[in-house]
Amino acid sequence: MTSGGDSPGMNAAIRSVARTCAFYNIECAGIYRGYEGMMEGDFKELTARNVKGLINKGGTILKSARSKEFRTPEGRKKAYEALRAADIDALVAIGGDGTFTGALIFNQEFGFPVMGIPGTIDNDIFGTSHTLGYDTALNTVVEVIDKIRDTASSHNRLFFIEVMGRDVGHIALNVGVGAGAEEILIPEENLGLERLVESLRRSKKSGKSSSIVVVAEGDKTGKNVFELKDYVDQNMSEYEVRVSVLGHMQRGGSPSCFDRVLASRMGVKAVESLLDGKSNFMVGLLNDKIQLTPLENAIKGQSKINKELIRVSDIMTT
Ligand code: F6P
Repeated sequence: MTSGGDSPGMNAAIRSVARTCAFYNIECAGIYRGYEGMMEGDFKELTARNVKGLINKGGTILKSARSKEFRTPEGRKKAYEALRAADIDALVAIGGDGTFTGALIFNQEFGFPVMGIPGTIDNDIFGTSHTLGYDTALNTVVEVIDKIRDTASSHNRLFFIEVMGRDVGHIALNVGVGAGAEEILIPEENLGLERLVESLRRSKKSGKSSSIVVVAEGDKTGKNVFELKDYVDQNMSEYEVRVSVLGHMQRGGSPSCFDRVLASRMGVKAVESLLDGKSNFMVGLLNDKIQLTPLENAIKGQSKINKELIRVSDIMTT
């Protein structure tokens, strides 16, 4: 099952789970539309062959949804009955912390074995250095910012570029460094508007012809990219400012090789762990090994921003 916001690599994980099941002679069913489809019994058999051609496909063939009804005891009971009726006896849930929270409660209420695979472009899950789709999103965003840089520098303009990251700044910080942004605004650190303006002035004085400021959607300046533009317009005459909100294009596209390999490894580990009788874990990548983290920790723990990268970014923008 895939649930919550989709991410590139989810299909590769579905393929991996189905093929690992086939390898061990276990029947595998795909659950459509996350917990919504689970409650409705919307299942389809997945075989080694009918998951062909999936490894390079963005999105999720199982579709995804965020379900309100599953948050109620009645909804979860409906889901349990639908799973039992279809003889399903373990769940691999691919998604983010909302998905894992649902899976954990479901296990606590019905003793149903669950295993999580982290799939979100935000990389905001504790217990893995990389969530599925994060690497692809970084590459997608960097490519787009490079293009914006071309036009920004032709016109000597300043661009505020909003990238995804509701609660964390992993995407913003990494693409900011990767695309050579002059400033990066992330939820974990509030630069403050005055320092932003000072920094942009310094940058202009040092002879830069264009400037890129990458803004995570959850940043803490209290202003969105359009308001940031207005603020700079009012306080700095030296820049002509434009705004670009990248939006959901960041979630689409063919997964990078890294995400395909990661998805394949995670799918194998998820099925093998369930076969070993384990439950309530998330598979994650730690020190280049696929390792298990209790779902509870994955939900409660914080995925920390890389402080060293913040320092690197500060040095790079001198
Ligand atoms: O997948 C996570 C995320 O990309 C966040 O960064 C973003 O805020 C959110 O999804 C938007 O999701 P949706 O529009 O699907 O609700």
